[in-house]
Amino acid sequence: MSSAPDARRPGGSLAIRGRLLSFDVDPATGAGPTYVEDGLLVVENGLIAAMGEASALLAGLPAGMEVVDHRPHLVLPGLVDTHLHLPQTQVIASYGAELMEWLQKYTFPEESRYGDPAVCEAAARFLLDELAANGTTTAAVYCTSHPESVAAFMEEADRRSQRMVAGKVMMDRNAPPALLDTATRGYDETRALAQRWHGRGRLELAITPRFAPTSSEAQLEAAGALAADFPDMAIQTHLSENLSEIAFVAELFPWAGDYLAVYERYGLVRRRALFGHCIHLTERERAALGEARASAVFCPTSNLFLGSGLFDRAGVSAAGAHVGIATDIGGGTSYSMLRTGAEGYKVLALRGQKLPAFEAFHMMTAGNAAAMGLENRIGRLAPGFEADIAVFDTGATPAMRRRLSRVETLAEELFLLMTLGDERATVATYADGRRLFERGGALRRPLAARQTEPARLSAGEGRSAQQ
Ligand code: GUN
Ligand code: ZN
Repeated sequence: MSSAPDARRPGGSLAIRGRLLSFDVDPATGAGPTYVEDGLLVVENGLIAAMGEASALLAGLPAGMEVVDHRPHLVLPGLVDTHLHLPQTQVIASYGAELMEWLQKYTFPEESRYGDPAVCEAAARFLLDELAANGTTTAAVYCTSHPESVAAFMEEADRRSQRMVAGKVMMDRNAPPALLDTATRGYDETRALAQRWHGRGRLELAITPRFAPTSSEAQLEAAGALAADFPDMAIQTHLSENLSEIAFVAELFPWAGDYLAVYERYGLVRRRALFGHCIHLTERERAALGEARASAVFCPTSNLFLGSGLFDRAGVSAAGAHVGIATDIGGGTSYSMLRTGAEGYKVLALRGQKLPAFEAFHMMTAGNAAAMGLENRIGRLAPGFEADIAVFDTGATPAMRRRLSRVETLAEELFLLMTLGDERATVATYADGRRLFERGGALRRPLAARQTEPARLSAGEGRSAQQ
């Protein structure tokens, strides 16, 4: 677990009724999810106090506790996005370039605007609104090399009581001067930001060297010094996304046997280190990631959009590394983890691999929480976990409703949700036991009135939790 001091404000208290669904055990082991058809989630001070049958829990609720009735919708842990870029909300959908050209042509010029706090604040508000509308409550976020961008993001996330992990991008070469720091400045600014934000409320700072091509050896050494100063702090960077990038790394670091060896040399490969993309890994790199219990982050919409390649989920998992899944805004093309799962399914199909719905939703919740080292705090609906919750309507659109009428199992229903769903399927999102986002349709009634009402027929009634 993170060493961040738990200086949390008391969160919200309420009860949520609906079809509760939590992926408490990795479905790859053959275990099914925890599913309660007419369930109640009791939240006290931002933590889940109880989870179970509504019929058993309703009578014992504290007097006056608000009950939000989300039946017949699915109530899941808030979704987790393990890799995205704050300054790329106006880069997303930029035409026709592969990684290195896309960075130079679109991304770096846009990121150069983030020395202006007003630009940073507007982006932070927009991004957090968009994530909430998609049911995403936690993310690993790259800000820019400007400390202002981290401050603006942290400030806004703290105001919303969201668990967020974000970092100042360290980059001291191969980018426009307006974006470059130095080895020393990258170190000092990261330390100063850690002092201000790391462990404040639900926030954590991440050590964020952008990727090997934009850091000198001195700067990677400084990143390694930060990693040694903060042994439990998350680290995020990019690895083996694109063949030209890999060739450039070989040129810049001729002593390194492979790309990962650069990060290894500076002590950056460990638990809670999140490596974005990891497409073109060698066998040795996969094994080393596994040995370190580090995390490889699959970014399917980005990998397709930039033509980067097809992630090998089976190979990386078999090596023992954690596998996260992420939007990678703005190389990625959707803020929705549902869309991301759908594209992940297709990428893996092209590799002859499968992504069953239970595994996809496990990845979006508990799996991604584990990839970020937050598995004891978020990603599950279980007592003691933080009350970050996403509520989805699997019949949100005519196309979804039509398909839903033929669905017979929970696994089929979830597969439909991820394949046809997007932000239109989000009914409500809660963080820290407080409402972050709500689409019309949630019924809020006082407890006394609600208890006397007959249960509405659930669209999932009688559905088994079989795959
Ligand atoms: N590699 C280094 N920076 C980036 C970035 O911003 N996006 C993606 N997709 N890859 C990167
Ligand atoms: Zn990225």
